[in-house]
Amino acid sequence: MRTLIVYYSFTGNNDILANDLKRRLSCDLLKIEEVKKRNGFTILLDIVFNRDARLKPHKVSLLDYDNFIFMAPIWVGRLAAPLKTFLKNNRKEISRYSFITVCGGVEGQKEKLTRKLIRLLHRPPEIVTELWVADLLTGGKKGASVKTTGYQIARKDLVVFEDKIQEFLKVNQLKAQPV
Ligand SMILES: Cc1cc2nc3c(=O)[nH]c(=O)nc-3n(C[C@H](O)[C@H](O)[C@H](O)COP(=O)(O)O)c2cc1C
Repeated sequence: MRTLIVYYSFTGNNDILANDLKRRLSCDLLKIEEVKKRNGFTILLDIVFNRDARLKPHKVSLLDYDNFIFMAPIWVGRLAAPLKTFLKNNRKEISRYSFITVCGGVEGQKEKLTRKLIRLLHRPPEIVTELWVADLLTGGKKGASVKTTGYQIARKDLVVFEDKIQEFLKVNQLKAQPV
């Protein structure tokens, strides 16, 4: 299987995860980049008007890959607009895929994200995994309320998510290197 990680990150959390998985899997990495620098206001405008993002063209031939790992933050219960636009633009070249995100953490949003991915790509993901910043801040304690938006993780924080990451990699039938 030839795997490509395709990711978008606004504040760096998914960047850290993408580079960690790239290192473990020794696979290729494609960062989705926008034409204009984004801010909190344009995040909200894109959501309110259901707008697509304007992406810089990428130079990777997706047809060279048969397994995709997509990664992006969640904004107001939705896939970040740059990833959504990438998936819409490239649907026909995308085969087997999975989705993983470092997000704030909201109960029940995973099902909604899975439905959205199926609508966009016309096929189900192998696995959808959420790594909740909330779990980092509360030690996984249910019901504890913390402010997660804007929190920036460090690479060492990924240790907390190791079980979920291993499960994600296993479903991808990929042999992962230890941390
Ligand atoms: C405007 C905004 C809305 C957000 N909404 C959600 C949300 O609905 N659910 C969630 O789990 N996280 C939400 N988050 C948190 C981000 O998904 C989280 O901070 C993520 O790790 C950021 O990833 P990045 O650093 O790669 O951009 C939101 C963040 C922002 C800025």
